Amino acid sequence: MLQNNRNASYTMLILAIETSCDETGMSLLQASGGVTKPKFKVIENFVSSQIKIHAPFGGVVPNLAKREHLKNLPILLKRVMSHESRVPPKARLAKGGMSQVDLIAVTVGPGLEPALWTGINFAQKLSDAYKIPIVGANHLEGHLYSFLLPKKRFMIHESRVKTVFPAIALIVSGGHTILLNMKSFSRWKRLGETRDDAAGEAFDKVARLLELPYPGGKEIEKIANRGNANSIVFPRPMMHDNSPAGAYDFSFSGLKTSVLYYIKNNPNFNKADVAASFQKAAFDVLVWKTIKAAREYGACSILLSGGVAANKLLRKRMKYESKKFGLNFFVPHFTYNLDNAAMIGVTAYFKAQKGEFTKAVTIDRYPNLKLGLDN
Ligand code: KG4
Ligand code: ZN
Repeated sequence: MLQNNRNASYTMLILAIETSCDETGMSLLQASGGVTKPKFKVIENFVSSQIKIHAPFGGVVPNLAKREHLKNLPILLKRVMSHESRVPPKARLAKGGMSQVDLIAVTVGPGLEPALWTGINFAQKLSDAYKIPIVGANHLEGHLYSFLLPKKRFMIHESRVKTVFPAIALIVSGGHTILLNMKSFSRWKRLGETRDDAAGEAFDKVARLLELPYPGGKEIEKIANRGNANSIVFPRPMMHDNSPAGAYDFSFSGLKTSVLYYIKNNPNFNKADVAASFQKAAFDVLVWKTIKAAREYGACSILLSGGVAANKLLRKRMKYESKKFGLNFFVPHFTYNLDNAAMIGVTAYFKAQKGEFTKAVTIDRYPNLKLGLDN
């Protein structure tokens, strides 16, 4: 079946599951075109958010996340599989139509172990019960490819790979800040990463200092819109580090600490000014290093992804600088910046194209895009 249908013209129906952190995601999508002309159509994409449950703790509690995933997964499966009337005939699932699914995709890392296992076990049981091939997908690769997803359900998004590669990709999420030099969807070299806090983590920590609700990134962006970004000069860590070891690495913990000292030393501080100035400092470094890499490595485009890519100012600034240097700019539609399962489906499709199926999925031991690469 699937192994014989691995050619690019075959349209694959993928059921994707994401439980790496605090969002339970499930998506049904169609994929074709292989790795040179990939085409994706999202039929369903549900994200069940746990924000309200974790908010009182100011962060994600792994065992609570696990409990919620266990509760949400069967509910989401039912919802994904029961939308026959809205599904076009070709993809329509008969009642209990799991038999039409060609591939099950599930996140295998990086993430919180108890949370990951709930998705993995659920996916494995479905795979065994319905004899559907299964592929474990890397969450960060999911973010990386999320720009390939169409803006709306049932729309088809086709990508012309020639306009994308070579590319410099910046992944900025709550757990990671990684810069990659990409030759294709499966070949890349990691240029740098954060040495301490991830960009999203710095946003969340500064939001806590400003007593903003969890999760903080969105809240910082909201109040920063009312502030003066030039009112406080916070440091731009490692921005002008041109040493071989540090040229493409990041560091955000010192920036967060200087926000802390500013607040302590200025009891009448203006929250909006602090948020705007912090945001500007963080984005100066992210944009500078990404563009510098693109110029040094002769990239033709910039790919921006991960939760922090939901920030309109970051998108605007990265797009402006990309255009200035004649680079194409790709960023996911707002629906797909934060954790979702559709992006896991895309990753699994590329893996399936390479024949990377597993009998039993398990947690990825090398999840940080460091090893197992084809570069
Ligand atoms: O990719 P993501 O959903 O989860 C991880 O894989 O970590 O990213 C979540 C991170 C959080 O740290 C959150 O504060 C940040 O993305 N974030 C933002 C914005 N929306 C979410 N940061 C800055 N501006 C935003 N609008
Ligand atoms: Zn993520």
